[in-house]
Amino acid sequence: MRDDDINATLAEGLRAFETARDAAALEAARVAFLGRSGRLRSGMDRLREIPADQRKAVGARLNHIKANLETAYLAARDRLQSVARPSGPSPDPTLPGIGPPLGTKHPLTAARERFCSIFGQLGFAVADGPEIEDEFHNFDALNIPPDHPVREMADTFVLEQGAILRSQTSTVQVRVMESHVRRHGGGQDMPPIRVIAPGRVYRPDAVDATHHYGFSQIEGLAVGPDITFADLKGVLGVFSRVMFGDATRTRFRPSFFPFTEPSAELDVSCMFCSGQGCRVCKQTGWVELGGCGMVDPNVFGAVGICPETHTGFAFGFGIERMAMFLLGVDDMRRFTENDLRFLRQFT
Ligand code: DAH
Repeated sequence: MRDDDINATLAEGLRAFETARDAAALEAARVAFLGRSGRLRSGMDRLREIPADQRKAVGARLNHIKANLETAYLAARDRLQSVARPSGPSPDPTLPGIGPPLGTKHPLTAARERFCSIFGQLGFAVADGPEIEDEFHNFDALNIPPDHPVREMADTFVLEQGAILRSQTSTVQVRVMESHVRRHGGGQDMPPIRVIAPGRVYRPDAVDATHHYGFSQIEGLAVGPDITFADLKGVLGVFSRVMFGDATRTRFRPSFFPFTEPSAELDVSCMFCSGQGCRVCKQTGWVELGGCGMVDPNVFGAVGICPETHTGFAFGFGIERMAMFLLGVDDMRRFTENDLRFLRQFT
């Protein structure tokens, strides 16, 4: 190895270490100059080719260069580490971390879950059904006559090939009873049914503070050998008191639904003024929760349950409406606008 080569190795090595801008570049330089197949090593390997009388001097020179390069390497390593290390006081590892922002339950989800939990304690299971339905489940089986105006396109979203978007969760009543009958038959030995069915429903309504084209309902259904209107009143009374407070009173107003006979509208005493009269209850002291009644024998007929041996009650409430009462929200549109300022109020 010639003197020129040795000097060049030293100069280039020193420059490589001094100019290395990060750990990867420094490591590459170390491998190139000080590594096992690096430039210095190959110089040492070639010592044997050097005439014996010069070998000792060249060897000493190589050792000297090696020491210089190693020093330069260590200096460069220190330099890079001190750059990487933040200046100032060292961080306190005992401080609590910065948690990721957590979402909360949407108020409608919370209202639905509360509803399901109360009815769960009353022995009702949760049932589910499709949002895309057919006329049989949305109308026919529910005793809604073929010429009834709710079937018009103006009242129901009509899809292709006879499919519609369900306009009420009462469809799930029908589906639950059908599958129950498939499993157990609809005769005397049929075990009782107790279900609630929350879900979205769709109607071509103009959107305003109390209407939306897509909203949610909760349907309830109980069928058994001797269920009476008194059971319906008892169950909905307990539900109302647990949901809206112990002092809540209920009132059943006669009404009409094709799928129940007799039918009623359930009112609860206004939770804002305790029935004294306020803006929410329009000074009446009562707010309307939804419809209910005794399952019409024609509905039992449509699903194959014997109307001689079975009776049942059903009800259907709007979830948005209930959540508005619970939370004091005066406009249904708030629930779907996804305005975080609104949603964060209910954490
Ligand atoms: N399906 C009715 C509606 O959408 C609500 C309803 C009323 C459901 C009475 C019922 C019932 O099960 O018995 O307006």
